[in-house]
Amino acid sequence: MSLNLTYSKINKIFEPDSKNPVHALKDVSFSIEPGELFCLLGPSGCGKTTLLRATAGLETITSGHILYGDMDMTSIPPFRRNIGMVFQSFALYPHMNIFENVAYGLRVRKMEEKEIKRRVTEVMELVGLTEELKRNPSPTGLSGGQQQRVAIARALVYDPDILLLDEPLANLDAKLRRYMRAEIRRIQKATNITTIFVTHDQEEAMAIGDRLAVLHKGVVEQIGTSDELYTNPSNAFVANFIGKMNFFNASLVGSHSAKIDATDVTVEVRPERSRLEAGLKKGSEVFVGARPEQLEIVEEASDQTIAATVQIIQHLGQVVRYEVLLDKAISPATMEIDMPHYLSNVREQDSVFIRFKEGMPFLFNREEQN
Ligand SMILES: Nc1ncnc2c1ncn2[C@@H]1O[C@H](COP(=O)(O)OP(=O)(O)OP(=O)(O)O)[C@@H](O)[C@H]1O
Ligand SMILES: [Mg+2]
Repeated sequence: MSLNLTYSKINKIFEPDSKNPVHALKDVSFSIEPGELFCLLGPSGCGKTTLLRATAGLETITSGHILYGDMDMTSIPPFRRNIGMVFQSFALYPHMNIFENVAYGLRVRKMEEKEIKRRVTEVMELVGLTEELKRNPSPTGLSGGQQQRVAIARALVYDPDILLLDEPLANLDAKLRRYMRAEIRRIQKATNITTIFVTHDQEEAMAIGDRLAVLHKGVVEQIGTSDELYTNPSNAFVANFIGKMNFFNASLVGSHSAKIDATDVTVEVRPERSRLEAGLKKGSEVFVGARPEQLEIVEEASDQTIAATVQIIQHLGQVVRYEVLLDKAISPATMEIDMPHYLSNVREQDSVFIRFKEGMPFLFNREEQN
């Protein structure tokens, strides 16, 4: 029976006695449900691999507890934790055929030959390699995606309680990655093994995970479904990391209102869409944020519009994306605005006006986003 996997106040400090200790995980606490496909998402160096390795017992933690159900795993040696892991480099044995690659761990456990054959055949069918198993080449005779399937089969063949996947698709080309996303979801749902999938690719995390955690410099910034994170980001970092968010430099004029820099536009934000820390003074520098679909282009100026120049117009199927430039004081970056259809009078290099859709903008502390 599958149980909750719970992280409770995990801290990991590498080289604690050196001049430059690295605090790689900071009070990480969350819980994963039985059978869940959970994504751990964050930029390079944020602590993803460290958390996976700690889960597998390959890395000690400085403080905190990792619980499987009520059982504290922290003191259990790696080989007793029933965990399968797939590494970014597939780490297959080139001198063995694929059957032996998958069977290896079972042989080490001195399983009966008949049972090994049954399990390997079954797991290779699950990952879609039945035909390849008949030929049974060395992994070097397989494509990248097929090698990745062998690596997944090798992790699944023990029937683990938990499966850990560390950027398993990173070495595949874009098309294969998209295909393997769906495959991993299919395999995970078929086995129902509690799985953590690590990636730094937000699109991949949103496509694969039942829920995701955004990790930033060792801190869990937010946990939720991709929809929750997209519609309700808890801070500017998450807003910028999950989907596109346009940020406007502004200064606070009321508890939920801000004046956009270099304009006379004051934006009133719904209280529930304000992410400001408590007690911020009037005049504080903040961001007004809006998703591309929360802005619109209009041809006439008003007291609610901001002047802009259209850079690029792209038809993306469902929407038409307008990339526009504003006064540098408002934002040095290009803004992206998604309109439901082409504006017949607007061309690239034209001057236009943009405005926020009613009730849509967010307010964020002006903080670093990377
Ligand atoms: N053995 C180690 N000794 C010292 N510092 C380490 C060690 N392993 C990792 N770190 C540091 O801990 C932090 C987290 O590293 P980690 O490998 O977990 O990041 P990551 O999120 O997996 O990044 P990536 O996406 O690049 O794989 C980094 O600052 C890294 O330099
Ligand atoms: Mg890593």
